[in-house]
Amino acid sequence: MAEYLGARHFVMVNSGSSANLAIIEALIRPSRSEPHLRPGDGVLVPAIAWPTTVWPVLQLGLRPVFVDIDPETIMIDLDAAGRAVREHGDSVRAIFPIHPLGRAVDPKTLSEFCARHSLVLISDVCEALGSWKRGRHAGLGSLASSFSFYFSHHITTMEGGGVATDDSAFADDLRSIRSHGWSRDRSDASSWSGTSNDINSRFLFASAGYNIRPMEIQAALGIGQIGRIDSYIDRRRVIAARVAEALDSTKLRLLGAETLRDDPRSNSWMLLPVTAPNPHAAQAALRYLESVGVETRPILTGNFTAQPSIRRLLDSDINPREFVQADHVSTHSFMVGCHHHFTDEQTEHLAQSLHKASSAR
Ligand SMILES: Cc1ncc(COP(=O)(O)O)c(C=O)c1O
Repeated sequence: MAEYLGARHFVMVNSGSSANLAIIEALIRPSRSEPHLRPGDGVLVPAIAWPTTVWPVLQLGLRPVFVDIDPETIMIDLDAAGRAVREHGDSVRAIFPIHPLGRAVDPKTLSEFCARHSLVLISDVCEALGSWKRGRHAGLGSLASSFSFYFSHHITTMEGGGVATDDSAFADDLRSIRSHGWSRDRSDASSWSGTSNDINSRFLFASAGYNIRPMEIQAALGIGQIGRIDSYIDRRRVIAARVAEALDSTKLRLLGAETLRDDPRSNSWMLLPVTAPNPHAAQAALRYLESVGVETRPILTGNFTAQPSIRRLLDSDINPREFVQADHVSTHSFMVGCHHHFTDEQTEHLAQSLHKASSAR
């Protein structure tokens, strides 16, 4: 993975969710350096998010600050993020964008934004393996970026994930954090045992930790697939192109279809986001698709700020309706699958069903 991504280190863990948890743990409780973030610091997160992008922030005592998204790309809206920073002042110390559904957030605009506001940049790339922008893999250039190898993703170890980072000390902390906090898997393990001669070096704990290790067999599955990733993503692009063609001149639209023409490498098509002109047309399309055996789902979770858990866990008067674009996406858009193992017949069924769904009532 490190070689494929062009990262110095890749530390595998047992899921993308654990990768996010390990990143936040390493940021707030590093074993040697000063913490990058301290309890109570604000972290900008998109209003259309996956729960386990947000939960580790909350669970480890930081403060998620939700930001509206761009309804065309589903990415965090950096203008809205700028407004949130101004509103919350310098208590906002980091940004955790998601590279959604296979789309790479532009690394240049992200790093410029972080430099302007003195923010730590960490990236959730769990949905965007194989997506490149300006010759760089999505999320690279962040202090750390997380990946998922869950079943429907670009490569799968059934469950699995990991963290890419160029920071060697951060990578060592991740190796401790994934294994109870012990020092034995670290590149600097000998320097730890040198300082504590009375402690057995196999049971020397450099940091707090979890047990979020993957199994060898999962890594073996992943290694088998990473060499074929380009062919998987090419196939996903063919499926996306066929669907875009089937929806041409209909009421439905494939979000991101323009990347097929303008910047194909910037979209690895984790799933296919489709948008309708109004909620009624979206609901009619969903009913039709499910009736012909095409499974559908909301865009990630829809507007995540509207979830009951958020209202209960964030003791602020957060108003989901303020996230106008996230609400718009929740009511107008949905996703269907896009897997590289779809047969031609399945792809045709998907494309033709979407075409018919566009005129469903
Ligand atoms: C944006 C995002 N982050 C994190 C995750 C969590 O990954 P996992 O299912 O491997 O725990 C997912 C899951 O698909 C995701 O979409």
